[in-house]
Amino acid sequence: MNLLVTIIAIIFVPTAYSEPAWCYHDSNCDDTTWPSKFSKICNGSRQSPIEINSSLAVGNASLTVFNFTNYGDTSTIENITNTGRTVEVDLKKGVQISAGALSDVYDSLQFHLHWGNGTSVHGSEHTVDGMRYPMEMHIVNTKTVYNRSLTAASTDSTGIAALGFFIEAMPGNSTGSPAAWNTLASYLANITLSDEKVSISPAISLDDLLKGVNRSKYYRYLGSLTTPNCSEAVVWTVFKETIKVSQDLINLFSTTVHIGNQSTSALMTNVFRKSQLSNGRVVTTQPTASRASKIGFSLGPMALAWMLLRV
Ligand SMILES: *[C@@H]1O[C@H](CO)[C@@H](O)[C@H](O)[C@H]1NC(C)=O
Ligand SMILES: *[C@@H]1O[C@H](CO)[C@@H](O)[C@H](O)[C@H]1NC(C)=O
Ligand SMILES: *[C@@H]1O[C@H](CO)[C@@H](O)[C@H](O)[C@H]1NC(C)=O
Ligand SMILES: *[C@@H]1O[C@H](CO)[C@@H](O)[C@H](O)[C@H]1NC(C)=O
Ligand SMILES: *[C@@H]1O[C@H](CO)[C@@H](O)[C@H](O)[C@H]1NC(C)=O
Ligand SMILES: *[C@@H]1O[C@H](CO)[C@@H](O)[C@H](O)[C@H]1NC(C)=O
Ligand SMILES: *[C@@H]1O[C@H](CO)[C@@H](O)[C@H](O)[C@H]1NC(C)=O
Ligand SMILES: *[C@@H]1O[C@H](CO)[C@@H](O)[C@H](O)[C@H]1NC(C)=O
Ligand SMILES: *[C@@H]1O[C@H](CO)[C@@H](O)[C@H](O)[C@H]1NC(C)=O
Ligand SMILES: *[C@@H]1O[C@H](CO)[C@@H](O)[C@H](O)[C@H]1NC(C)=O
Ligand SMILES: *[C@@H]1O[C@H](CO)[C@@H](O)[C@H](O)[C@H]1NC(C)=O
Ligand SMILES: *[C@@H]1O[C@H](CO)[C@@H](O)[C@H](O)[C@H]1NC(C)=O
Ligand SMILES: [Zn+2]
Repeated sequence: MNLLVTIIAIIFVPTAYSEPAWCYHDSNCDDTTWPSKFSKICNGSRQSPIEINSSLAVGNASLTVFNFTNYGDTSTIENITNTGRTVEVDLKKGVQISAGALSDVYDSLQFHLHWGNGTSVHGSEHTVDGMRYPMEMHIVNTKTVYNRSLTAASTDSTGIAALGFFIEAMPGNSTGSPAAWNTLASYLANITLSDEKVSISPAISLDDLLKGVNRSKYYRYLGSLTTPNCSEAVVWTVFKETIKVSQDLINLFSTTVHIGNQSTSALMTNVFRKSQLSNGRVVTTQPTASRASKIGFSLGPMALAWMLLRV
């Protein structure tokens, strides 16, 4: 009898263990458990996200504009997937970023979103001056030398470049706008369960989704992936201007997609990691004109004219 139990146990134990999975909702796998359950790196000293304090951001004139390659191409966005922890859109080969004070050309692999619970409970990962936004979009990029492998790129302290865009509600009561976000959000109804994936058409481009954001104004700091294994391999760019979408589109995310593969499983809400310690890290940004003119005034009109020409 004991032998039989042992044999059954030996046969069944391996299938009884499911893949260890990190999560946001359950205290057995949420972000407080990541350092002990998934990777010690999650308790490292350059973790993300962080609270950005704009008055402490250091001006740095090398933070120039980016070169976005194929961001206007409407054939690069193909599928949208419910991963059980986010909604992710994979990008075709050929989408890239460079310049913007990055050391290399990076391949844009995918973008995904973080959110709270509709427009009322904000769920961006980064905060600025204590402000958490309703949602945050992350475009994940890896140095071309790593051939689109996130795992390979995560062994290099600047192997990954992440672009963060805050999303907030448009003023007023407009619905279903802008059109590109309406198209994207309309597919949520097709991926209500985890692991569901559908193709997107009519085609939309990344530029369509980022419309209205001046991409030459941003914060820069060195951090990590905000999900396990939290690799400290990320050059973060957090844009100052927000993407504005109508309230109904923001609300769709927290009311449509589920974290599991049963319609009875919980809705996907509050899918963001808590703020991490900055540990003395410096956030840089473009030098401000007001600061230059303040210096200019104290130096006199000739100096002011000189400063303005240089800004
Ligand atoms: C994380 O690091 C802090 C201080 O560095 C330490 O007190 C804590 O025990 C660590 N937690 C884990 C789970 O390793
Ligand atoms: C300015 O930014 C560039 C690019 O990130 C960096 O290499 C340089 O060290 C920064 N300069 C200062 C003074 O922080
Ligand atoms: C932008 O990047 C592409 C390759 O990704 C390159 O061919 C092009 O010359 C770059 N343009 C500028 C203005 O740097
Ligand atoms: C989209 O999904 C199809 C079918 O699973 C797959 O063949 C294709 O590679 C996916 N496209 C991207 C850009 O991941
Ligand atoms: C999200 O908000 C809805 C009402 O707007 C509420 O019923 C629900 O319990 C909230 N979910 C969580 C996880 O707080
Ligand atoms: C930002 O830094 C300034 C200067 O240290 C401080 O007075 C202010 O309270 C900080 N703001 C936040 C939101 O932490
Ligand atoms: C890059 O990855 C592709 C597909 O994953 C593979 O076919 C190709 O051989 C790889 N190239 C290099 C240089 O590793
Ligand atoms: C996890 O972290 C280790 C150590 O930095 C790294 O070698 C590995 O590639 C990472 N794995 C993934 C999937 O990011
Ligand atoms: C939005 O709708 C509410 C309720 O219907 C209304 O009270 C409010 O005036 C509207 N605001 C605008 C800017 O149209
Ligand atoms: C998404 O769902 C709608 C409504 O059920 C359906 O008409 C449409 O064909 C679906 N689209 C895809 C790409 O599966
Ligand atoms: C974007 O911001 C930069 C820096 O403030 C400014 O020079 C430029 O004109 C702005 N571009 C647009 C399209 O507003
Ligand atoms: C649903 O999820 C469970 C556990 O997460 C898994 O064992 C099962 O295979 C999944 N079913 C389908 C149809 O994907
Ligand atoms: Zn993210």
